[in-house]
Amino acid sequence: MKKITVPDILKMKEEGRKIPVLTAYGFQMARILDSAGIPVLLVGDSAGMVEAGYENTLPITMDEMIYHTRSVARGRTSALVVADMPFGSYQVSISEARKNAARLVKEGRAEAVKAEGGVRAADVVRAITDMDIPVMGHIGLTPQSIHRMGGYRVQGKGKDASERLMDDAQAVQDAGAFAVVLEGIPAALAKEITASLSIPTIGIGAGVECDGQVLVVDDMLGLNTDSRLPKYVKKYADLKGAIEAAAGEYIKDVTEGRFPAKEQSY
Ligand code: KIV
Repeated sequence: MKKITVPDILKMKEEGRKIPVLTAYGFQMARILDSAGIPVLLVGDSAGMVEAGYENTLPITMDEMIYHTRSVARGRTSALVVADMPFGSYQVSISEARKNAARLVKEGRAEAVKAEGGVRAADVVRAITDMDIPVMGHIGLTPQSIHRMGGYRVQGKGKDASERLMDDAQAVQDAGAFAVVLEGIPAALAKEITASLSIPTIGIGAGVECDGQVLVVDDMLGLNTDSRLPKYVKKYADLKGAIEAAAGEYIKDVTEGRFPAKEQSY
């Protein structure tokens, strides 16, 4: 399969081809998703919740993100690997932001980074793209702003809020981002933003009119052990059920002396 690059992603929008994106945090999953043909693997800071069990995305560190990114990069042959800049890695100063983006590329082998924020993050997006590191923006429901938002709430409702989001989208594009995630916003607003931008929009809880869609892989595979999933999640498999059944069978085989059998013995 051909290696996917940032210009390929831009071309997909130009040609009206939708862009499927999934998160990945480790080598094996990256390998499987890559061979399934996913064009973009996002090493989201959701790794902190999904892989480490943190209550939100704020605690994950640069070193942890680099570990996950490097594991994913080793597993892919074709997909573009985009790594999230964790909370605190780009908000303190422009020079910290540049240094940390470079670490994700140099040590993590990412091919692009993602940073949350619109107008407020435009300087950071510009500074990182000026180093020739492609940046994916992320606006709307930005999980790193959970304390300001007071929870994971749909953003951009009402005239003022929707105008602010239009400004955010434009600011991120003007700052040089190659794509922008639209999270948790009304579908009609996402449609308007998508039509107004030349860069692709990647939606999550933002309706079908975005240029692409992203889901957390554990959510869509039914691996998430939380009983309540966000409304926007579609479950494409029940791997939790499959794992429970397999583990149950193994436990029974071992306790009843059926495993290992002759075939598994030397
Ligand atoms: O961290 C993440 O997984 C994300 C996506 C869901 C957009 O930012």
